Amino acid sequence: MPNRLRKVVFPVAGLGTRFLPATKVVAKEMLPVLDRPLIQYAVDEAVDAGADTLVFVTNRYKHAIADYFDKAYELESKLAQSGKNELLAMVQGTLPRHVRCVFVTQPEALGLGHAVLCAKPVVGDEPFGVILPDDLIWNGSGAGALRQMADLSVRENGAGVIAVEEVAREQTDKYGIVDARPLSERAAKINLVVEKPKPEVAPSNLAIVGRYVLPGRIFELLENTKPGAGGEIQLTDAIEALLGERSVLAYRFEGTRFDCGNKLGLVKATLAMALADPALAGPTRAYIADTMG
Ligand code: UTP
Repeated sequence: MPNRLRKVVFPVAGLGTRFLPATKVVAKEMLPVLDRPLIQYAVDEAVDAGADTLVFVTNRYKHAIADYFDKAYELESKLAQSGKNELLAMVQGTLPRHVRCVFVTQPEALGLGHAVLCAKPVVGDEPFGVILPDDLIWNGSGAGALRQMADLSVRENGAGVIAVEEVAREQTDKYGIVDARPLSERAAKINLVVEKPKPEVAPSNLAIVGRYVLPGRIFELLENTKPGAGGEIQLTDAIEALLGERSVLAYRFEGTRFDCGNKLGLVKATLAMALADPALAGPTRAYIADTMG
C-alpha cells in the first residue's frame, strides 16, 4: 500500500541556546555533520518518506535555511563556467525538483506544540509528518525512520505514530515517556504519555524522540492546549488528548539516533558519518587510535 504522507513540518524556531555563541548567527539546523547541515539530513528523510511539501516553521532571524534551499545564481554560474560539474550537481541537489518549501513564522518561541500549530494553514486536515532536525536518525541505505513510520500508519488505518527509543532509566526526566502495550516487535499501542517523569515514577524507559506522523485533527487539539511548564504549549499534551480519540502507536525505528541538539551528540554523529565515509574512515580510525594512545 502506498504511503500518503505528502507534507512534513520542520519546527526550527527554537533558540538553540546549547550551541551559543555559534547560534547567535548560525541556526542550529545549519550546523554541519561533515559537509551537510543537519537540515539536509532531515529533508532527505522527509523526501524518502514521500513528502513533496516541506513546511519550515522558523523565526524571523533564521533566513539561512531558506537561503540554503534557494537557487544560488552566482555560485552556480561560476561552477558551471569552470566546468566543476560534480560540485554544481551537489549545490543544485539540495532539494529534488518536485519538492516545494513553504516557510511559516512562529512569532514567539512558545513551545514545540505552538510551532507545529503554526503549520496548520499549510497542512490543513491531512496526515503529516514532523521531523526535529536536531535528532539525526541514520539508517544507512535502509528506509529512513519517517518512511518506516508512514508505512506503519497506512497499515494501521491512519493511526498516529510516534518514534520512541529506549533510554537509560536516569534519563527519563529529559523526555516524554510512553506507557504502551506491545503489538509487534517494533510497534506498541500507547496508553499514556508522561512529560519528563522522574526515573522512580516513569511508566517505562521508552522515550519520545523527534519524529511524528500525526492526523490533521492534532491542530484542533493544539488550539485547545493550555500552556504547560515554562508557559510553553507542549505537543505531548495534545497527543495525550488524541489518545482519547484514536490509536496512537509508539514505534521503535530501525536506525541510530544522534541527539545533535547537544555537543556530545554532534561529535558522535560526526564520528559515525566519518567512519561510514570511504575516504574518511581510514584516517579517522588512525586519528582515534593515535589519540587513545
Ligand atoms: P529544543 O527543546 O531543542 O529547544 O526544541 P531549542 O531552542 O531548539 O534548543 P536549546 O534547548 O535552547 O539548545 C526542540 C525542537 O522544537 C523547536 C526547536 O527548533 C527544535 O527543533 N521549537 C522549540 C520551535 O520551533 N519553537 C519553539 O517555541 C520551541
